[in-house]
Amino acid sequence: MKGNECHILAIESSCDDTGASVFRNDQMLSNIVAGQSVHEAWGGVVPELASRAHHQHIVPVVDKAIKEAGIKKTDLSAIAFTRGPGLLGPLLVGTQFAKALSLSLNIPLIEVNHMQAHVMAHFIEEPKPEPPFLCLTASGGHTQIILVEGPLQTKLLGQTRDDAAGEAFDKSAKLLGLPYPGGPHIDQWGQKGKDCFKFPEPKIPGYDFSFSGLKTAIMYFIRDEQAKNPEFINENKADICASIQEQIVRILLNKVKKAAKDYNIKIIAIAGGVSANSCFRSRLEEYGNKYGWECFKPKNEFCTDNAAMIGITAYYKFLKEEFCDLSICPSARLKL
Ligand code: KG4
Ligand code: ZN
Repeated sequence: MKGNECHILAIESSCDDTGASVFRNDQMLSNIVAGQSVHEAWGGVVPELASRAHHQHIVPVVDKAIKEAGIKKTDLSAIAFTRGPGLLGPLLVGTQFAKALSLSLNIPLIEVNHMQAHVMAHFIEEPKPEPPFLCLTASGGHTQIILVEGPLQTKLLGQTRDDAAGEAFDKSAKLLGLPYPGGPHIDQWGQKGKDCFKFPEPKIPGYDFSFSGLKTAIMYFIRDEQAKNPEFINENKADICASIQEQIVRILLNKVKKAAKDYNIKIIAIAGGVSANSCFRSRLEEYGNKYGWECFKPKNEFCTDNAAMIGITAYYKFLKEEFCDLSICPSARLKL
């Protein structure tokens, strides 16, 4: 570390993407991610296969991140890793790797909460939202409305009681015979279709969400229509996808609207894999114009799982010297 300059290596391995990123203070120098196509054949992430793929990817991904950053391993000031929430096997790979590097280089270790990091993705690049703001994080495993009062000050206002928004996308895609993960496929098909099929909006009080009823409604709708016309999916794929994504996005944004009104906050951010959805991004702008919100959407590479969001979170923790020791364990159900 030179003067006030720090270099942080961040590792993300909570699910099926192995990520490594290097930061110089709050400036991102590299951001590498290796996906895992091995799960496609199974229609979902297989935890054991994910752990093994992380083992194969982690050394080359970290190596590339350090090379691309133009630094040497010995320039590093700290190692950050995703502690949870996520799949325990994949988390263990990243955690153990980070611990080993921290021990061998004799530099501090920083644990990062994956859900906090999705929110912190908004602090990677300009323009950054000025706290206090609301962040809706929608990913494959979580759907949360968060009040952000400062870079590491996040307060959970509401979350899903069952399926996550990303799961609603992925499970609907499966019903339509689309590959895993289905969210991006529904997005692409939906762009060519119309919002002409109606699905129910759950009546959940407060800021909590529920997506399991929607999933069941979509399942029965497709079953009934296919009984009348076996070619129903093929003939209507674009319209079905458009209707599904419009309804998921409406459910998400109606809750944001309620929270924005109750908390009198007009700075709204979205995060997590589902925030890459083109319909979600354009509807957010429409709500923003209608209700006078200033809206923030991360670049696509910072929506889905990435190590840069771990790196920026770690930078703020580094400033506060929030380090952990080698006895730290990953936690699959780590809370925000
Ligand atoms: O944040 P993320 O990469 O991983 C988790 O932490 O879960 O989110 C993955 C989720 C998956 O459910 C995936 O289908 C969804 O984000 N997703 C999308 C899009 N891109 C990724 N959903 C809808 N439209 C997209 N373009
Ligand atoms: Zn995630």
